[in-house]
Amino acid sequence: MYSVPKLEHYSPESLDHVVADLLAALDAETVVLRNDADWKAFRDRWLARKNGVLTLVNETWLKAAPGPAKREVGRRVNELKARVEAAIGDAHNKIHASSADALLAAERLDITLPGIQRPIGVKHPVLRVMDEIVAVFKAMGYSVGEGPEVETDYYNFESLNFPPNHPARDTQDTLLIAGQEHKPSRDRLLLRTHTSPVQIRTMEKQPPPLRIVIPGKVHRNDPLDATHSPIFHQVEGLAVDTNITFCDLKGTLDHAMKALFGSSVKTRFYPSFFPFTEPSADMQVSCIFCGGKGCRKCKNSGWIELLGCGMVDPNVFDFVKDNGYDSSKISGFAFGMGVERIAMLKYEVEGIQLFYEGDVRFLEQFA
Ligand code: PHE
Repeated sequence: MYSVPKLEHYSPESLDHVVADLLAALDAETVVLRNDADWKAFRDRWLARKNGVLTLVNETWLKAAPGPAKREVGRRVNELKARVEAAIGDAHNKIHASSADALLAAERLDITLPGIQRPIGVKHPVLRVMDEIVAVFKAMGYSVGEGPEVETDYYNFESLNFPPNHPARDTQDTLLIAGQEHKPSRDRLLLRTHTSPVQIRTMEKQPPPLRIVIPGKVHRNDPLDATHSPIFHQVEGLAVDTNITFCDLKGTLDHAMKALFGSSVKTRFYPSFFPFTEPSADMQVSCIFCGGKGCRKCKNSGWIELLGCGMVDPNVFDFVKDNGYDSSKISGFAFGMGVERIAMLKYEVEGIQLFYEGDVRFLEQFA
């Protein structure tokens, strides 16, 4: 630490000389200041009331100076004081500016680094085919409806003309929700086994005429094998108007199959049974693999069974009579198709489980 010498000579030259020494000491100290603690020590050394350099200068120089020299000494002490204060102020600014620089430097980002590449996802093939089927019917003027996956016995069975305890219920291996025994049977909850309950739900809300497709997930107590899954997807269709005939059903589905599989595909209709359609049919398409000649895929028949359909049973309309569905005035057709089955045919997928395993190598083929 710099000590303040006693003055022996008061000539301007010797006064300038001691002041210059002090300023040199001040400069030398400012160079080595690194942080706030350094700066505080520096400030106190020069400005402290007790034993600070300026205090000592006041006492040993100014107070001790003989009368005639006081003016010259006083001028230099004031000058010195101004220089010391300026140096302390500058040093403060420098330390704080450099710590702000350090903060900025620590937060520096190199925006020229390449980012993390995330592969772009694609629509799942089941969804894609479902959307494709829906689009074919939208183009024919159909609107799209939805309904709940947890259904009541009433909508899934009773209103579709499956009477309680009717054996036709056994064709749908239903997953029932437990603990419903206290409820009347029509209110008991189950996982819908088909999208057909949305037929009734839609007709309750909307009077005829009606043209609607209903895409959705359905559940059955089926063990998983190459072509069955306990959860799968269907697209249901319903058209109700005056004078709807079986011809309309055939023409509509034939057009839809040509839109989905190409214009050379043929359709045929075989008698079948569903409680909610009369007459009922299974629709088959000419084998899309062999063109109808017969191959392993179509078991040499040349045909592949694809969906269930039929004319809406008048008993079904009776459940929504109050909303304008008078079966003596209107008629309609309905159909239901499995989306996975159509997707498997379209993309030649060998096992249904491939759709659910989430294997990227399988899914990225649909990109
Ligand atoms: N709901 C029937 C099923 O899942 C398919 C179907 C729908 C049949 C509409 C006729 C009319 O098997």
